[in-house]
Amino acid sequence: MKKILVTGGCGFIGSNFIRYVLKNSDYEIVNLDKLTYAGNLKNLVDIEENSRYKFYRGDICNYEFVSYLVDREKIDSIINFAAESHVDRSILSSQEFIRTNVIGTNVLLEVARQNAIERFVQISTDEVYGSLGPDGKFTETTPLSPNSPYSASKASADLLVKAYHHTYGVPTLITRCSNNYGPYQFPEKLIPLMIINALSNKPLPVYGDGMNVRDWIYVEDHCDAILKVFESGKIGEVYNIGAENEKPNIEIVKLILKELGKDESLITFVKDRPGHDRRYAIDATKIKEELNWKPKYTFERAIKETIAWYQENKSWWQEIISGEYLNYYKKWYEER
Ligand code: NAD
Ligand code: DAU
Repeated sequence: MKKILVTGGCGFIGSNFIRYVLKNSDYEIVNLDKLTYAGNLKNLVDIEENSRYKFYRGDICNYEFVSYLVDREKIDSIINFAAESHVDRSILSSQEFIRTNVIGTNVLLEVARQNAIERFVQISTDEVYGSLGPDGKFTETTPLSPNSPYSASKASADLLVKAYHHTYGVPTLITRCSNNYGPYQFPEKLIPLMIINALSNKPLPVYGDGMNVRDWIYVEDHCDAILKVFESGKIGEVYNIGAENEKPNIEIVKLILKELGKDESLITFVKDRPGHDRRYAIDATKIKEELNWKPKYTFERAIKETIAWYQENKSWWQEIISGEYLNYYKKWYEER
């Protein structure tokens, strides 16, 4: 049985991915996570006793530890989800983003090189391409043009991945996905933040004119696409992932309020995010044609299921929205 090192497996997408892989394949998973504010052991409480799963707390920037772990666990492949992932936090302070997203990726690549890792998948983002005007979509050949410290750190990591493949022949693959939503997403991101604020009758802070467009994909569809790329993607290639579901932010916010039976008067237009990318849209033709992947969920169905999940899992998010979360919320939404 092949063993995959998943990094950042206690975060939103990583935890959904581990659950998906344990259910839909025979792989063994070793999860390495630092448990930052965004990492939560409760995201995987239902599978922690699974015999094909093992957790280590650690930092991807720690070369000695990652090296030891890969050797000790006889790791065959690496899938790197670990990252600082929130654009607004990168605007408040970028150092951790450079450390984890760039240096951490470099450590993983170096360990992959020295241990003849069979496949190395870098989970990147569509934000490395920058911002679109009203027309067009990102393809895999769109030039990298990141605009935030977060996206610049992710683009830097992508360049390192490319260089390690080109120079040392490390068998790398890169995925670039659009905005995810679904269960276990940390409530600093648009959809969970709006759901929990609406449930708490708190103002829903919409940046600028609310007309920035994001291209939404349900997290399970993203996980399915990553597994496809991992198993069948061509080494050295980049694969865009998206579900052709562009929406202006204000439309999403109104939909959430409607679904929860709350009044639109909760919407509050607030100061815009500096350097706010206007529009993202993914052309996913390559993964669809080469790897025969397509999303299984419609937005209409999956957003309802997501809202219901947050309604049914109040204790999960109520534990999060104290301490560090309140400090961040105050700094970003009240003191800016
Ligand atoms: P997240 O913030 O929910 O989770 C990140 C995880 O990484 C956390 O568990 C955290 O503890 C861990 N981590 C952070 N620094 C670490 C370190 N130094 N060492 C080990 N673990 C560390 O993020 P997410 O939304 O699940 O995103 C996962 C990946 O997918 C990221 O690389 C992100 O750039 C990418 N991505 C996210 C989206 C999205 O919409 N959320 C879309 C496309 C790509
Ligand atoms: O596109 C993929 C990226 O999607 C990932 O790489 C990032 O990790 C992920 O955080 C996400 O980035 P965004 O900046 O697009 O997501 P966020 O949920 O922060 O914001 C989505 C949109 O909603 C964006 O236009 C900003 C807006 N927004 C966000 C928040 C948190 C608001 O209007 N108000 C808010 O309070």
